[in-house]
Amino acid sequence: EGYVVAVVGATGAVGKTMLEILAERNFPIDELYPVASSRSAGSTIEFRGKEYVVQDLETFDPTGVDIALFSAGGGTSKTHAPRFAAAGCYVIDNSSAWRMDDDICLVVPEVNPHALEMARENKIIANPNCSTIQMVVALKPLHDAVPIERVVVSTYQAVSGAGGKAMDELAKQTAQLLNGQSAEVNVFPARIAFNVIPHIDVFMDDGYTKEERKMMDETRKIMESEIAVTATTVRVPVFYGHSESVNITFSGPMDAVTARRLLADAEGVCVVDDPAGEDYPMPSEAAGTDPVWVGRIRDDQSCANSLHLWVVADNVRKGAALNAVQIAEILIPHS
Ligand code: A2P
Repeated sequence: EGYVVAVVGATGAVGKTMLEILAERNFPIDELYPVASSRSAGSTIEFRGKEYVVQDLETFDPTGVDIALFSAGGGTSKTHAPRFAAAGCYVIDNSSAWRMDDDICLVVPEVNPHALEMARENKIIANPNCSTIQMVVALKPLHDAVPIERVVVSTYQAVSGAGGKAMDELAKQTAQLLNGQSAEVNVFPARIAFNVIPHIDVFMDDGYTKEERKMMDETRKIMESEIAVTATTVRVPVFYGHSESVNITFSGPMDAVTARRLLADAEGVCVVDDPAGEDYPMPSEAAGTDPVWVGRIRDDQSCANSLHLWVVADNVRKGAALNAVQIAEILIPHS
């Protein structure tokens, strides 16, 4: 007894991981439809040892589909998610198209699963920005103990967040530079190999980038709290795993010892924090894993009631595909 599931963007970096995670977690699937653009329609993908033909989104009929996981870009979601929802299908959308819409819920299962109630009617659920997801999983257990007033975050984001072509660009530029050639720049605004770029998504009039704005706005929506958030988001030459330096100011007393205990007990969090053993989370170790890894937990000596955290997660898994599948797992028992 399973469900009819469509993965839209099934040939992309996130879509492929969605399929892997659906298989790993034994999601009850009766029928699977991998869907992408006309460019890859007709090709095949493998799922649990069986071949499936990729369908063209333009002509795909969603009638009878129970759940569609979308990761095919914002424009694609704006056009096609309503069409799937109108056919009675739940759409879990990884793009930024619907996230800040007042009628659409923005969900991280460890933080605000109750918000999914809103989707019983309108059927569309937004999956948050990758950097936001891993941060709120770490903030939530602390905020529940002592409300957070302000967060200052700087990110170190992997290229996989920008899709398959972006990963190819890092690999190619690295090889070009090591071979004494000049690096070709196509996907990123500047060379990414042997560099860091403080520019993700587009700049807005206020000087922030849209990626920074997403972290600031989405955090407040998911946490259902007017926390002051300011962000600097940076692309680094790492393939998988976003890292974040997070500085938190609480509305009352909070210290590193209490925070370490709260985080150690929190759902979806693994604490790795042993300065004596030189042990702390890194993307090289977080890649391919499910938890949000937290370390470097320490009192901020410059400011009362304030802490530093170092937060690392696999941006394609918890930051995108896994979070979407976890949402689907909450939806199904009620369907
Ligand atoms: P396709 O392989 O046919 O281009 P990534 O994030 O790794 O770049 O992947 C993007 C995913 O979104 C791919 O699966 C891609 O399919 C899909 N996609 C992009 N644009 C469209 C579109 N207009 N319609 C359907 N799928 C799309």
